[in-house]
Amino acid sequence: MERFFIRGQQELSGDIPVYGAKNHALKMIPATFLSEGSVTLRNVPGIDDVAQSLELVVALGGDVERIDASTVKITAPTESAGIFPQDIASKLRASIVFLGPVLARYHTVVMPHPGGCNLGKRPIDLFIRAFELMGASITTVGEHMHFSAPQGLNGAHIVFPVITVTGTETVLMAACLAKGETVIENASVEPEIIELTQYLIDHGAQITGIGTHVLRIIGGGLLTGGSARILPDRIEAGSFVMLAAAARAHIRVINCRPDHLTVPLEILRAMGLPMTITEDTIEVHPHQGLQAHSIVTHEYPGFPTDLQAPMTVLLTQASGTSMVRETIYDGRLFYTDTLNTMGAKITLMDSYRAVVEGATELHGKLVVSPDLRAGIAMVIAGLIAKGTTTIEHINHIDRGYERIEQRLQAIHADITRIE
Ligand code: EPU
Repeated sequence: MERFFIRGQQELSGDIPVYGAKNHALKMIPATFLSEGSVTLRNVPGIDDVAQSLELVVALGGDVERIDASTVKITAPTESAGIFPQDIASKLRASIVFLGPVLARYHTVVMPHPGGCNLGKRPIDLFIRAFELMGASITTVGEHMHFSAPQGLNGAHIVFPVITVTGTETVLMAACLAKGETVIENASVEPEIIELTQYLIDHGAQITGIGTHVLRIIGGGLLTGGSARILPDRIEAGSFVMLAAAARAHIRVINCRPDHLTVPLEILRAMGLPMTITEDTIEVHPHQGLQAHSIVTHEYPGFPTDLQAPMTVLLTQASGTSMVRETIYDGRLFYTDTLNTMGAKITLMDSYRAVVEGATELHGKLVVSPDLRAGIAMVIAGLIAKGTTTIEHINHIDRGYERIEQRLQAIHADITRIE
């Protein structure tokens, strides 16, 4: 099992590039199953979740050709039995995104409950309800769910009672090949969904309402092949900005989309962080101290749950009391115990609310990465802490951040990967 070994409090500075977005790549890969020809995807991040998603393409009968380190050409099969292998699907939560396009095109899917990060076995009731409304019959045999629509899916009126990112995406894709009109109400409006919707339209889908909470799709035949570029990862960009702020460093985050981070950047500005922002860079300037600020996670364009853990580390460095309210996931604040062992003063009120008293000096420790986003928070904590930090279970971090230690070394961080 690999670990990171960090000597904290080095003087960080320089440019750090942002790579392709995990949560865009993991939707664009299944979207290729809607096309008759090949689709070339560029700026694909080299992370474990993407590798597993590409393995799933091959397991379903598709072809994956590596053009270079960040470009893949995917050709969906003309026929597929739609069987998702247990070892891939049970590890990759985003395997559920394949459900819509594969069921719509090949009329059958057999899959185990999708796994993924340690946020508990997340529910899939909204997916099941949506595909039932679109005419699929769903049965459970042992550990597997069987989805079947021998005549193909039908358009339907789907109202999501809560906003679901992957639910919106997979139903949107299925609707492109379903018969008739589908309406998705309370659709999510994340930048990755808008980009996916635009890709679908550009390759032949009939969709209106792009970027709004109501999407209308008229189903038709297979889309054309083509190409797409994966967006810069807004969560990675935000994590690097928070690292720079916590370390009081002069760092320029490059190749990013600041317009996808307006709410977090506005909060950082209100805390007193000096930044220079261009169309694709965020330059963080050294500061003499930040003020506490409360945050509430929210669906886009609100404060992203995926930045809540890095932000909490930053709040331990701000003067005063901050409240962190997590509204998307139960159980996404438990890592705060680990930060307390490093010297933070965080009180967990319940599984959704934490109070952070700052500023506190952190001290290096042996810690375990509990999930992807808390894992990057541990990296930030280790980099600003006095002494040395060892982080175990970094496989969680590799799921979503490509060669993170190399990019951090380039801004003078003392971090090494050890066996
Ligand atoms: N939910 C249900 N039933 C469902 C589906 C969702 O109750 O059938 C609930 C969830 O339990 C949660 C809420 O709805 O409380 C929202 O979950 P959502 O479905 O939006 O999450 P997701 O689509 O599974 C994606 C990202 C997550 C990100 C969330 C929220 C991907 C592959 N994953 O998850 O990313 O946190 O949206 O923005 O896009 C990460 O990258 O670390 C990560 C966890």
